[in-house]
Amino acid sequence: MRIPLSRFLIEQQRESKTLDPNLRLLIEVVARACKAIAIAIGKGNLGDAMGTAGTDNVQGEVQKKLDVISNEILLDANEWGGHLAAMASEEMDLPFCIPNRYPKGEYLLVFDPLDGSSNIDVNISVGTIFSVLRAPEGIDCANGDAFLQKGCTQVAAGYAVYGPNTQLVLTFGHGVHVFTLDREIGTFRLTQENLQIPEDTREFAINMSNQRHWEEPVQRYVAELLAGKEGPRGEDFNMRWVASMVADVHRILSRGGLFMYPLDAKMAKQGGKLRLLYEANPMAFLIEQAGGAATTGRERILDLQPTSLHQRVPVILGSKNEVERVTSYHKD
Ligand code: AHG
Ligand code: MN
Ligand code: MN
Ligand code: MN
Repeated sequence: MRIPLSRFLIEQQRESKTLDPNLRLLIEVVARACKAIAIAIGKGNLGDAMGTAGTDNVQGEVQKKLDVISNEILLDANEWGGHLAAMASEEMDLPFCIPNRYPKGEYLLVFDPLDGSSNIDVNISVGTIFSVLRAPEGIDCANGDAFLQKGCTQVAAGYAVYGPNTQLVLTFGHGVHVFTLDREIGTFRLTQENLQIPEDTREFAINMSNQRHWEEPVQRYVAELLAGKEGPRGEDFNMRWVASMVADVHRILSRGGLFMYPLDAKMAKQGGKLRLLYEANPMAFLIEQAGGAATTGRERILDLQPTSLHQRVPVILGSKNEVERVTSYHKD
């Protein structure tokens, strides 16, 4: 335990065939970029990275300066190493092609450079989410089709959470491992191996202000939780909502729970709130690897065939038995 990320990756590479030198480099580079993002965030109002950038992203959200800076940090860190064929991000309309002056690699990197950016100005935890896919042979990087792969094909996924301490949570499809940033030496060190989520929970996370827009199965499920000991569940449930997916998912990976951003009437046209390729898929991969479950209410998230780069989907994830219950209500 407490070994540096580099040693962990080298040992994984020796033991498994799934982690090759280029994937190891990719993860090291992403981790280094996350350290740079953590430093930019950590300066707060003493730096010049707070506030809005004065631009909107492709989904019509107002970009914070830190959304743009985090995106640039990840692009700059990853473009030259020869491990990637292309990158895509929440903050870019189209994929980023590796410039011709650099060699091209066999992986694709997709990311949400700064998740929970509405929380940045009030000093609440935010994060970076990423997903690694294999690049199809001879891809045309300019159109985003190469990225439209099912979540179950991800070769790695993870996130960094910038909270009271900075942590990196990773999976290569063989369990979930947590690294904590040792600020004195500037290195991520292994602090938890093979994380497992309890199958049962009495804690849920949902934005209750959307209640009037939810579909019937979610209305029914949450009403049962709110009824507490006197209701059909016979237990009191507690609610938490940070409004940074990374922070909410991190709590669930740490102690169990249920997270929902379900389909609602307001979001029906766009398919949901959260983005499939760089929010739902990487988080679903981590949650399943920790023994939890992740569905849209109707289908397993990792089985969805993506149809566009910035596609949105409903997300229900966390402790297995609760996810299965909400999902079964959708089938009733
Ligand atoms: P992002 O900041 O990357 O655009 O993501 C925001 C997402 C996610 O982090 C969070 O779970 C959700 O939006 C919060 O939504 P509400 O503002 O509706 O609570
Ligand atoms: Mn956003
Ligand atoms: Mn996000
Ligand atoms: Mn974001």
